[in-house]
Amino acid sequence: MGLVPVSDLLKAADAGGYAVGAFNCNNMEIVQAIAAAAEAERAPVIMQASQGAIKYAGIEYITAMAKTAASLVNVPVALHLDHGTSFEQVMQCIRAGFSSVMIDGSKHSLEDNIALTKQVVAAARPVGVSVEAELGKIGGTEDDIHVNEADAFFTDPEEARVFVRETGVDALAVAIGTAHGRYKGEPKLDFARLEKIRSLVNIPIVLHGSSGVPGDAIREAIRLGVRKVNIDTNIREAFVDRCREIIAAYPDEIDPRKILGPAREAAVELIREKIRLFGSSGKA
Ligand code: G3H
Ligand code: 13P
Ligand code: ZN
Repeated sequence: MGLVPVSDLLKAADAGGYAVGAFNCNNMEIVQAIAAAAEAERAPVIMQASQGAIKYAGIEYITAMAKTAASLVNVPVALHLDHGTSFEQVMQCIRAGFSSVMIDGSKHSLEDNIALTKQVVAAARPVGVSVEAELGKIGGTEDDIHVNEADAFFTDPEEARVFVRETGVDALAVAIGTAHGRYKGEPKLDFARLEKIRSLVNIPIVLHGSSGVPGDAIREAIRLGVRKVNIDTNIREAFVDRCREIIAAYPDEIDPRKILGPAREAAVELIREKIRLFGSSGKA
């Protein structure tokens, strides 16, 4: 199959009351793990690359790997830009063949975020690329965006209504208590806020910083309208922990395949568990 827009996957998820997993990839093994997990679960899946991943791997490699993975499996796969911060970055990804982009204007004022997001929608929609935007600041450290916890603030439901009406975005990332990276304590999600947002905007909601959020909270967020769940940190942990275990057990090992192969398997298992949690298993 070729790459599909995220909006197609999220429309089906909305109708079915489940969420699609959006998994960050930086290298070949993780791209392969995402594809293998989706195929094993018969699930639609989103591969996403941050600006940092694009800088690390190169946009040609990221696009070619995702396209190859999509062509080898029999489930729908989207390639999505995660936290794009400029119109230029979005255009580079659209030209390279991404099927979906996120424009993260959350560090700007509401007016400037609306203006930037509108510009992206105007460029992306005619070429069939879907657009996710962010309103409110999600805590933690993102590539090119540093929000300390005191600065992080939640999405205002009324602003969300205006933002969606003005921009026409396909999906909205909201700040309701999740944060990127590892949590210090247990995250507390503001479900009342999520419910209010969802009652005012009629588009799929995206949950960022979902690694480490307890399963019950993820299920409740999906019940209240979350249709795309972003996972990066948990994949990094599964992958790197397995690398560490192998290196500790076999300190003389010099074949990268003997280390990265099992790490890839660990990532497959983790991603399969997440897909089942999100309810998208069997939905391809
Ligand atoms: O939301 C951020 C993702 O975890 C990507 O992280 O910018 O280090 O690739 P990164
Ligand atoms: P985590 O790394 O906390 O899972 O967040 C991923 C994310 O939101 C990517 O945009
Ligand atoms: Zn994010």
